[in-house]
Amino acid sequence: MIREIVQVGDPVLRKKCDPVTRFDESLSVLLEDMKETLKDAVGAGLAAPQIGVSLRVVVVDVEEGYFEFINPIFVWQKGEQYGSEGCLSVRGKSGSVLRPSKVKIIFQDRNGDKYSLVARDFFARAICHELDHLDGVLYTDKAENIRDEDA
Ligand code: CO
Repeated sequence: MIREIVQVGDPVLRKKCDPVTRFDESLSVLLEDMKETLKDAVGAGLAAPQIGVSLRVVVVDVEEGYFEFINPIFVWQKGEQYGSEGCLSVRGKSGSVLRPSKVKIIFQDRNGDKYSLVARDFFARAICHELDHLDGVLYTDKAENIRDEDA
């Protein structure tokens, strides 16, 4: 089901999300809703608080594929990249954000199985942006030159 994307100003976007402890049917439903909502919005990633659910769940849709990360944690972050970002919860804006160029995360899948993953370039940027959402951080907190996209 396509869910409404919460917009900046809603307190759910500023909360530290809770870890997922139950890998059950309701988690699968959440993930399917996030996938549909992200595809519909044509974004690179979506975090659960963006549909009003304060849980540590993100989905990322990039060149490398479609990924579900549950309880993701950084193992390390390396290098620097400077580039443009937008957010489905901050409509019509973009801004330049400094991010690591390469990251390693550990995470769980929808069954609770543990994995690790190394990402670089835009994939790393998308992961950093989405993981920030889980701690109530928006890219606009870090961005320079926030501008209207159609300006
Ligand atoms: Co965002």
